Amino acid sequence: MYKSSISSFMFSTDHVLLPRMVVARLSCTLKNQGKRIGHCTKVPRNVNMEKLQHGYLFPEIERHELKHLKKYPHANVIDLGIGDTTQPLPTMVTSSMVDFVRGLSTAKGYKGYGPEQGEKALRKAIADAFYRDLGIKSSEVFVSDGAQCDITRLQLLMGPNLKIAVQDPSFPAYIDSSVIIGQAGKFVDKAGKYKNIEYMTCGPQTDFFPDLSTTSRTDLIFFCSPNNPTGHAATRKQLKQLVNFAKRNGSIIIFDSAYSAYITDDSPRSIFEIPGAREVAIEVSSFSKFAGFTGVRLGWTVVPEELLYSNGFPVVHDFNRIMCTCFNGASNIAQAGGLACLSPEGFRAMQSLVDHYMENASILLDALTSLGLTVYGGKNAPYVWVHFPGSKSWDVFAEILEKTHIITVPGSGFGPGAEEYIRISAFGQRDSTIEASQRLKHLLYQ
Ligand SMILES: Cc1ncc(COP(=O)(O)O)c(C=O)c1O
Repeated sequence: MYKSSISSFMFSTDHVLLPRMVVARLSCTLKNQGKRIGHCTKVPRNVNMEKLQHGYLFPEIERHELKHLKKYPHANVIDLGIGDTTQPLPTMVTSSMVDFVRGLSTAKGYKGYGPEQGEKALRKAIADAFYRDLGIKSSEVFVSDGAQCDITRLQLLMGPNLKIAVQDPSFPAYIDSSVIIGQAGKFVDKAGKYKNIEYMTCGPQTDFFPDLSTTSRTDLIFFCSPNNPTGHAATRKQLKQLVNFAKRNGSIIIFDSAYSAYITDDSPRSIFEIPGAREVAIEVSSFSKFAGFTGVRLGWTVVPEELLYSNGFPVVHDFNRIMCTCFNGASNIAQAGGLACLSPEGFRAMQSLVDHYMENASILLDALTSLGLTVYGGKNAPYVWVHFPGSKSWDVFAEILEKTHIITVPGSGFGPGAEEYIRISAFGQRDSTIEASQRLKHLLYQ
C-alpha cells in the first residue's frame, strides 16, 4: 500500500523531475541515483494532494526555462509567460509605504495587528473606487493578501462536499484549490478532466461564454472576466444570463475581476453591475495587475449581506470567521500602499501603468495578426490568445522557446479545451515586447 501510493506521484527536487518512482524499500528511504534524499515518516500523504495533476502550471514552465538556459546559457530569454508585472511602482505609492514603515519605528507610528478584515479607510476606499453606486458597503469588503489566497480561503469556507463549475479554459487555481479541498473527484486521463468538476467550454464558437443550456447545475461557479487566459471580457448580456442561471439553480458565482482595470469597452467591471448579483455572487479582486502589487501582495473579496446558504445563514458571517481564523489581516505596509493607489493622483498613475501594458498588448496583437494568425484577447486584457489549429500547445510552446527563446504559456495548462492555443503576456518590458514581436514574426513568417 505504501509502495503504490508513493509510486503514483512524481517527485521533484531542485527543479529536476525524477523518474516516476524513487526507491522505496521497507526502511522507506527515498533515493535518487543512490543519493539519499529523505526519510519517510508514518504520516500518509493527503489523498487530495495525490490527485493534483503534474506541478502547478507556472513552476512547470519555469522548469522548462531552466532546462533551456542550460542548453543555451547565453540566450537572451524573453519571458512573456507568467503574467507578472514589470513596471516600477509610482513614487507616490512607494513613498506612502516608506512613510508608514518609518512610522513603525516611532512610538506614535507603531502599529501591530490590525483588523482581520482590513483597515477601515482602505475598505471604504475600495468600496468607493470600484463599487460606487453599486450598493456595496465597506463592511462587505474584506482586504486580503491577494486574490489567489482568497480563492483558496473561499474553497475552505465552502468545504469538500460541493460541486464546482469552471470556464474551460481558466486560471488554474480554481481547479487546483478544488482538488486540494476534496471536491474534484478522480482525474479522468482520457478526458483530461476531473470527474466532479463541470467544465464550461468557452471558445470562440460561443463568444467565449458557456452554453448554459447544456451546463449542469453546480453549487459554485467560478467565473473570471476579463478571462485569464483568453482575454475575453464578458458582455453585460452574458453576465445577466450567468446571474439568472445562478439564481435559477440556487448556485453561488465566485467572480474573479482581477483584470477589470484593463477593460476598455463598456463590459461590466464588476458582477455587481448586474441586477440581482448581490444575492448570488462573491467577487474576488486584486491590486496585483491593477497596481503592480504582484510582489507587495494586496487584494480583496466582496461578500454581500444578502447572499445566504440554503438554511438562510449569511455567507458573510462565515467568511468573516474564516478571515479571522485562517488569515490575520493584510500587511499594514501593503495597505498603506493600497490606500495611496486609490487617491485621485494614485488612480491616475495606476491608469498609466495599465495603459502602458495595453500598448504592449497592441504591439503583440499587430505583430501576430499581420502574420495571418487568429488572435483573441489583447483589447480588454493584457493577454493575447493565439490559435494554432491542429497543433498541441506544449509543442507550440517548445518550438517557440527553442527557436526564439521566448517563454509563452501552453493553452492546455488552462484546461482541456485550450489544446490548440498559447497565451502571450503583455506584462513584459516595452523593448522586450518589441523584440519578441520581431522574433515571432521572423519565426512564423518562414
Ligand atoms: C484570474 C486571476 N485571478 C487571480 C490571480 C492572482 O492574483 P493575486 O496576485 O492577487 O493573488 C491571478 C494571477 O495571475 C489571475 O490571473
